[in-house]
Amino acid sequence: RRSYSVTLLPGDGIGPEVVSVAKDVLSLAGSHEGIEFRFSEMPIGGAALDLTGVPLPEETLAAAKESDAVLLGAIGGYKWDSNEKHLKPETGLLQLRAGLGVFANLRPATVLPQLIDASTLKKEVAEGVDLMVVRELTGGIYFGKPRGFGTNHEGEEIGFNTEVYSVSEIDRIARVAFEVARKRRGKVCSVDKANVLEFDTIVTNNIFGDILSDEASMLTGSIGMLPSASISESGPGLFEPIHGSAPDIAGQDKANPLATVLSAAMLLRYGFGEENAAKRIETAVIETLNRGFRTGDIHSYGTTLVGCKRMGEEVLRSVDSEKLVS
Ligand code: NAD
Ligand code: IPM
Ligand code: MN
Repeated sequence: RRSYSVTLLPGDGIGPEVVSVAKDVLSLAGSHEGIEFRFSEMPIGGAALDLTGVPLPEETLAAAKESDAVLLGAIGGYKWDSNEKHLKPETGLLQLRAGLGVFANLRPATVLPQLIDASTLKKEVAEGVDLMVVRELTGGIYFGKPRGFGTNHEGEEIGFNTEVYSVSEIDRIARVAFEVARKRRGKVCSVDKANVLEFDTIVTNNIFGDILSDEASMLTGSIGMLPSASISESGPGLFEPIHGSAPDIAGQDKANPLATVLSAAMLLRYGFGEENAAKRIETAVIETLNRGFRTGDIHSYGTTLVGCKRMGEEVLRSVDSEKLVS
């Protein structure tokens, strides 16, 4: 049996709900392929702040670095929104990405025929959308210096951040984008102005990548469907849904766990090269949608409204009922 260690970082809000589902799906799909996982769970974000006083405890980063892959839920919440910057949950996430050096964030957005009615766009426009945003994740305005407050020549108060990239940072993200595109339809669009969207692989900086992938979620129907993989040239990858902690629905068993489940599939594919197990998860998600199950964010007339846990159970059922892929 192949054995991998996975650090789970549930985080805040709906994070623990969706990670719990994804962990079960990962275990089951893995077991069908002779893979076993050693899971450990560590605090990050607001949960870590409450527990230890910092949003990314040293032990969490160390555990993440030592494992084969990291699966994260989401961080953040009203409770910590007015914290000083270095004590915000979001800062913990940025420290984790920087600490792991995961500079390439792959954010696929696919409009599934099953969810065409959940898209905010007309069917004719949304149909067949299948794109990949390649977002630079450890540079740009998120990390650029100088940043802060000061005064200008006229003595007026100003605020400033710096968007800066080195040639090597651009070189390596572009390489990832071209390699990804080669396995897709061979088209790369470099986005420096967010005015064009209908492309195969989009390579872009940290902040446009964030905005574009949120927008792409509106094509697909819900942000609750979109996974991501953050990778480096070596070392463990970080896999997380693109959505946040959804404080408005947290703790109510309403969250869509599929973005995190699909992130677990990306973990298998990009983290471990376990293509068959990844496909098992993706097929099970489609099968579950085919069987009509929908969480509130993707619910439409004629489908069955379920909560986060039940959706998880149905995906597990779908994994189990899959014919054995040779
Ligand atoms: P959000 O993604 O948490 O929520 C936006 C909307 O989408 C909400 O109405 C929410 O209910 C809904 N939604 C999101 N995920 C869903 C899911 N899986 N199923 C069903 N509905 C879902 O974004 P926000 O409200 O702007 O931010 C809330 C908090 O999350 C903030 O503290 C923010 O900083 C944080 N955040 C964290 C991450 C991350 O951890 N990677 C990403 C984005 C935002
Ligand atoms: C995301 C989030 C984060 C980002 C925040 C929470 C720092 O929006 O993962 O998309 O901007 O990268
Ligand atoms: Mn975002």
